[in-house]
Amino acid sequence: MADKFYITTPIYYVNDKPHIGHAYTTILADVLARYHKAEGNEVFFLTGLDEHGQKVQQAAEERGVSPKEHCDEMAPRFLELWEKLHIENDDFIRTTEGRHVKVVQDILQTVFDNGDIYEDEYEGLYSVSEERFITEKEAESGEFRDIKKLQEKNYFFKMSKYQQALIDHINDNPNFIQPEHRKNEVLGFLRKPLGDLCISRPKSRLNWGIDLPFDNNFVTYVWFDALINYVTAAGFGVDDESYNKWWPCEYHLIGKDILTTHAVYWPTMLMSAKMPLPKSIFAHGWWLSGESKMSKSLGNVVNPLDLIEEYGVDPVRYYLMREMVLGQDASFTMESFIKRYNSDLANDYGNLLSRVTKLIQSNFGGIVPDSGKKEGTEQDVIVSAERTISNVQSLINAMKVNEAIEETLQFIRGVNKYMEDQAPWKLVKENKDSAGRVLYTAAEALRIGTLLLSPVMPHRTGVVLETFKDEGKELRWGKLAPGTELQKHTPLFPRINIKKEKTPKVDEDKNTVTYEDFKNLGLKTAEVLSAEKVEGADKLFKLQIKLGDEERQIVAGIAEHYSPEELIGKMIVVVSNLEPAKIRGVESKGMLLAASRKKDLSLIVVDKEKVSSGKKAY
Ligand code: MSP
Repeated sequence: MADKFYITTPIYYVNDKPHIGHAYTTILADVLARYHKAEGNEVFFLTGLDEHGQKVQQAAEERGVSPKEHCDEMAPRFLELWEKLHIENDDFIRTTEGRHVKVVQDILQTVFDNGDIYEDEYEGLYSVSEERFITEKEAESGEFRDIKKLQEKNYFFKMSKYQQALIDHINDNPNFIQPEHRKNEVLGFLRKPLGDLCISRPKSRLNWGIDLPFDNNFVTYVWFDALINYVTAAGFGVDDESYNKWWPCEYHLIGKDILTTHAVYWPTMLMSAKMPLPKSIFAHGWWLSGESKMSKSLGNVVNPLDLIEEYGVDPVRYYLMREMVLGQDASFTMESFIKRYNSDLANDYGNLLSRVTKLIQSNFGGIVPDSGKKEGTEQDVIVSAERTISNVQSLINAMKVNEAIEETLQFIRGVNKYMEDQAPWKLVKENKDSAGRVLYTAAEALRIGTLLLSPVMPHRTGVVLETFKDEGKELRWGKLAPGTELQKHTPLFPRINIKKEKTPKVDEDKNTVTYEDFKNLGLKTAEVLSAEKVEGADKLFKLQIKLGDEERQIVAGIAEHYSPEELIGKMIVVVSNLEPAKIRGVESKGMLLAASRKKDLSLIVVDKEKVSSGKKAY
């Protein structure tokens, strides 16, 4: 009987601009969901958005819209990205939906009725940015901004009551928190006495949240609300059949930074509500930009959309899945992206694909030849295919996605080697049947390798499978029918020319420079005295310019956009202290400023005649 497989991603803060970290977890969930579907399991894959809390309220206020309008306007950014990344989620939950609000209130009421929520006056240090009370020690760590002393009445969840039960559960269920080192981290945290959890916010301070069912002067703390999404989507309280089928989930995929909320708050909440705990919480590491943490203030956050636009969706999915060892941090660099693409996708997989299809086209009229009588070498390929299929399945079940991909690539490399050893391009001249046997074997191995890679790269592998007219998509040797006419296709993974290499686009607006840096940039007004073409270069003009009392020469690539007549007399802006350079053998002392969009270019000029040359430009 088919197993069921329920997998979730964190629900992302609706305020955030989607970045590579969000994309990573969602792709990972998508890849795992697809592998499990291919294994014949029934899958439910959930993702969504976290829409309540102070930051959303503040952002909405700043934009002058209601918080709900703000959320409705922000949410499509995530949906569009998921579509572009070929994410096939089964549900998309937003915590502002009615279905969720009701479940949060029902669970709060149950926990309250069970005597696990009490009211208390609390005085402590409150971090506005984190939206929670923090300890003295945390305040001293310097990691929290906007700390203020607050005294207020609030509701508390008796989390401490479940401390021992949680420790026992973790010890009795070795897979409950993965990987192992994260489990130890949580057990370490639980060695100290566990406090109770403040689960309310007075409306005088925050009203963008879910009302407490037993006191509507308060809204629910955003984490108590958000975590419950995982059972709302399963159908809790509304559709028992669905809820009993899907909950508990097989995996909550999370980043390491939200381990405590998932591995301590959430299970104790469920214990109090007498609901089953998730089977496993899996915390992955962080994507770093090179060696540094990605952060908006550093301006080094990688935007997945830029990458997709440049290289296509599948290479991005492939790189993210292949490069991160689940559980550890990984470093994102364009260099490693291109290296990985060229070696695995262009050289290994793409090469096998084009070799096999081209040889079948040129020697067998594009018709898959007969498999013939298998020799020892063919048996080796078959055994290796079967071993790869079973290893990939076990590795996926053990959450070793990068190893499963590597296993598949090893198999593909082995088939390339088999092709080299057998040299069907030579064999065909001596014995066409033998060449046919080799090409059938390589093509069938390619089909199997393609099926194994399809959860990672659904689009391009789909093109290959169409080429083979493989509708059954069965992961078993011998399913490729001899006599199938191969479809032609364009190369799927053309090599990336290293010279084209680009650094990831960063948000320039966030990449600040100091005023000192700006001041040192010698931006000055200058009058164009003459312009003539640089010999042998259609795009370049040699300009003589007047900079106050000084006359100098600069070279600029504007000859396709302006005639000399249009330029003479114009008051332009130049970077006067740029290191002198020789361009096409012509001396250039400075650079002019222009704005360009695609093929259009416009000079930055001074629009009042009173400003003379040599003046500082700000
Ligand atoms: N809203 C909460 C989750 C509530 S779940 C009930 C939240 N949202 S988030 O948008 O800030 O973060 C979502 C996920 O993105 C987290 O798992 C976090 O670890 C992950 N990442 C954020 N930056 C990341 C990287 N640079 N690399 C990998 N994942 C990272 O937390």
